[in-house]
Amino acid sequence: MTKSILITGATGNLGGAVTRKLLADGYHLYTTLVPNEKAPADERIHAKIVDLFDEHDCAVYVDEIFDSGDDVHAGILLVGGFAMGSLTETNLGALDKMIRLNFYTAFSMAKPLFEHFEKKGGGQIILIGARPALQASQGKQAVAYALSKSLIFHLAEIINQTGKDKNIHASVVVPSTIDTPPNRQSMPDADFHKWVPAENIADVIAFLLTESGSMLRETVVKVYNES
Ligand SMILES: NC(=O)c1ccc[n+]([C@@H]2O[C@H](COP(=O)([O-])OP(=O)(O)OC[C@H]3O[C@@H](n4cnc5c(N)ncnc54)[C@H](OP(=O)(O)O)[C@@H]3O)[C@@H](O)[C@H]2O)c1
Repeated sequence: MTKSILITGATGNLGGAVTRKLLADGYHLYTTLVPNEKAPADERIHAKIVDLFDEHDCAVYVDEIFDSGDDVHAGILLVGGFAMGSLTETNLGALDKMIRLNFYTAFSMAKPLFEHFEKKGGGQIILIGARPALQASQGKQAVAYALSKSLIFHLAEIINQTGKDKNIHASVVVPSTIDTPPNRQSMPDADFHKWVPAENIADVIAFLLTESGSMLRETVVKVYNES
């Protein structure tokens, strides 16, 4: 059976590195496209237009993936985005935008994945948190972002509790600042060496999928390097 993984946000800076690493490790990947986005040429990647804000669309895609007969190991849910804004600058509109982008996109796939993992007898869900959700000192200038990412940690805890004795578990990978072109552009004076290359985060994610990594429970991995 083909070892497969569902990954969202595969076209992003982190997603690209994770995609390369998982293909090198022999996985086939299922990913999502936004309308008018070109499908990847690699035949090991199956891509479909899916609206991550549409629960039905997500559930149908996950059904299709499991119906393929592949051995689906995990979902790696990477979609997310950042916005600045202090407490007094944050309104419900800003909160709504961040919660939809950082939380709904993960929840809408995590739920049908969980249902299939229950039937299959196990599986892993890997989510991406952020340090501002863990440390208010970091989150006070990006309040909507911090609050939206805090839901990711709670979702992982709920998956872990609900998945206990079902061999279903969730991990949260928490990067500090990823060394990406957009981050270099917006913080040109920062010491980039203190940041985390996306390839190192991809290696951490790949480890979580190994036999040893899959023994970990209630995992929150802080990939901070020196930043
Ligand atoms: N960058 C950092 O320093 C940092 C730090 C901590 C945590 N994180 C988290 O790490 C994850 C990846 O970050 P990144 O820097 O790689 O981000 P990125 O380069 O901006 O990639 C984001 C990905 O999400 C996709 N996406 C955005 N909105 C979407 C939507 N509505 N529907 C479907 N897909 C959508 C993008 O697709 P398109 O390419 O089509 O837009 C892209 O594939 C995010 O969850 C982020 O919050 C990042």
